Amino acid sequence: MEYVTLSNGVEMPILGYGTYLVSPEECENLVIEAIANGYRSIDTAQAYYNEESVGNAISKCGIPREELFLTTKVWVSEAGYEKAKASIDESLRKLQTDYVDLLLIHQPYGDYYGTWRAMEEAYKEGKVRAIGLSNFAADRFIDLVTFSEVTPVMNQLETHLFQQQKFNRKYIEKYGALLEAWSPLARGENNMFSNPYLLEVGKKYNKSAGQVALRFLVQNGIVTLVKSSTPEHMKENIDIFDFVLSEEEMKTMEDMDEGVNFFMEHDNPEQMYNFFGNHGFISADEN
Ligand SMILES: NC(=O)c1ccc[n+]([C@@H]2O[C@H](COP(=O)([O-])OP(=O)(O)OC[C@H]3O[C@@H](n4cnc5c(N)ncnc54)[C@H](OP(=O)(O)O)[C@@H]3O)[C@@H](O)[C@H]2O)c1
Repeated sequence: MEYVTLSNGVEMPILGYGTYLVSPEECENLVIEAIANGYRSIDTAQAYYNEESVGNAISKCGIPREELFLTTKVWVSEAGYEKAKASIDESLRKLQTDYVDLLLIHQPYGDYYGTWRAMEEAYKEGKVRAIGLSNFAADRFIDLVTFSEVTPVMNQLETHLFQQQKFNRKYIEKYGALLEAWSPLARGENNMFSNPYLLEVGKKYNKSAGQVALRFLVQNGIVTLVKSSTPEHMKENIDIFDFVLSEEEMKTMEDMDEGVNFFMEHDNPEQMYNFFGNHGFISADEN
């Protein structure tokens, strides 16, 4: 495993195991299996409903807590100072730990300034080792950084070969923060796993198309979170640290960027209208 250093000096594995859409029933065993396969960073969220299962897994896995890197996220329904503060304590209780390594605001909606104040406080109290954002487009990222005491260390965005977030990344890095990739395999969309160029490059290194796509991200310095409920995929996805893509291969892959999100664009009014407006506000309990 390779590590990155966050802007506040905390070290974080560059590749982590994501638990979105991993049901609470299967989550505990899958996280234990991921850890057994070498993953040391686990990404969960209040809105994933599996923090308790992740907590069970980290307490049973046999690896000391300090060797694990745990991320969770404050959901929109918990936005605002008081609610966010209470929700952080609730997340710690569910995760069965005194601290999380990284705490993110999940989406830039609701009173996220109040949320950030609660997170800054939790950071100072040692309940979290680093704080950051998720799904903040450049304008909101700049806004929050400019008017806050603690600068976010991270912005977790939909990022993969076909959406490399070059524009947002520029502004994230201006503040010393890092880009973190969610959906790094684009959930297999756009024929990611049968892309002829990825297959050709993979053949050269004896790797799959998916491994080449993940390698491209980590070699690009992007912290990457990949989800798998299939043990073979889990093993395959972490087996990307024994080869190096050439400069020419990296350049060709950089040019495969289409620059659009496949799943959700948090600064797209039509999508957010459908997400919040059309269906009514989605709370962590209803989502
Ligand atoms: N902050 C946010 O708003 C946000 C949003 C979405 C996701 N995330 C985080 O990012 C993590 C990853 O994103 P994601 O789960 O959306 O997408 P992803 O990791 O790009 O893709 C997961 C999908 O790809 C399949 N897959 C994984 N490895 C494979 C392989 N080697 N070969 C073939 N298929 C493979 C999985 O199926 P199997 O399970 O069968 O392997 C699953 O269907 C999430 O789990 C979550 O922690 C954050």
